[in-house]
Amino acid sequence: MIRKVLITCTVLTGLVSCSQTKNRPDEPSLLSVVDSALAFSEKQSLLMAQKYDTLEDRLPRTCENGKDISSNSRWWCSGFFPGVLWYLYEHNKNPEILKYARLYTDRVEKEKYTTDNHDVGFMLYCSFGNGLRLTGDKRYEEVLLTGAKSLATRYNPDVGLIRSWDHNKEKWQYPVIIDNLMNLELLLWAANASGDPTFKTIVISHADKTIKNHFRPDYSSFHVVSYDTAIGKPHLKQTHQGYSDESAWSRGQAWGLYGYAYLYRETKDARYLEQAKNIANFLIYHPNMPEDYIPYWDFNTPEIPNTPRDASAACIIASALITLSDYVDKELSAEYMKVVEKQIRTLSSPEYTAKPGENGCFILKHSTGAYPLKSEIDVPLTYADYYYMETLTRLRKKLTK
Ligand code: GLY
Repeated sequence: MIRKVLITCTVLTGLVSCSQTKNRPDEPSLLSVVDSALAFSEKQSLLMAQKYDTLEDRLPRTCENGKDISSNSRWWCSGFFPGVLWYLYEHNKNPEILKYARLYTDRVEKEKYTTDNHDVGFMLYCSFGNGLRLTGDKRYEEVLLTGAKSLATRYNPDVGLIRSWDHNKEKWQYPVIIDNLMNLELLLWAANASGDPTFKTIVISHADKTIKNHFRPDYSSFHVVSYDTAIGKPHLKQTHQGYSDESAWSRGQAWGLYGYAYLYRETKDARYLEQAKNIANFLIYHPNMPEDYIPYWDFNTPEIPNTPRDASAACIIASALITLSDYVDKELSAEYMKVVEKQIRTLSSPEYTAKPGENGCFILKHSTGAYPLKSEIDVPLTYADYYYMETLTRLRKKLTK
């Protein structure tokens, strides 16, 4: 049913590019939706930046029942709020936003020495990576390279993957989670910046083994695959944040899609494009994907439709589809951009976008961190805001090209 509707939309738009898509007479253009969303996000994020300005070492994390929850740089999400500010700066070149982007980026610097988990890629590439891209600041380059070296220490050549976590050692010998694909982007950057090919070798090995061992025949993925280090093969395939070991945890599917989309953009290895297209297909046509393309927190929870959505998964999917749309044929590209348009119109509506100064000064509402762990359910999350900003920025470039 969903497939039929989508294909009809694609044919109706005449396979035109997203910028030419006709909107309904009562509907504002997509570009004006994007511009309003960016303008609001800048105001809201400035309020957030001012709130934590003098709270040394603190970074926003979420807001539950009206109570602000912050973290120090150790939390895996520490780089996302600085990243939000960098995207806003890229859009508007507001010097106050730049000042705060630098301030909050610096709060994450000590994570360049992190070797006890894989999240150093998220922490540094979203903050310092964007900072370097937009300012060329050489100091940021040093931080990123040191961080990439720290991350690379978690690669075991006998297994051929980076170890994600060190907890639950009694259960998992060598846990690798689908999210880990996201941390490889820092290593690809380091390969280019340093000229050291080892970084790329690690990336390719990790990406290839993930295709082999993390995915099911329908291109959904397991969350955690733990490897037996003696033989370098999986001994367990489980979940940690999803409904069940066999289910499709929504954000995990989103990380997989985003991962192979950028891996194709950066390597041009056709296998990664195929993988990303197949994951996109799984997501877009899944019978439990809502019509607005904002997924429930897991595609297989029997509580659907009476269970929370995960706006963060939607934002990650949207950004990945924009990347993919540049590398597929016109028809598929238009199909992907119709999904993105629906997502953005939904996310920027009052249903998902906060009111000024509310929602703990986060931009988006309704994300879900770890439902089975009863943690961060139907709340704002920094990574929803980060991938929303990335999507708006990339979409705006596409619409105004
Ligand atoms: N990387 C952790 C998560 O997606 O919740």
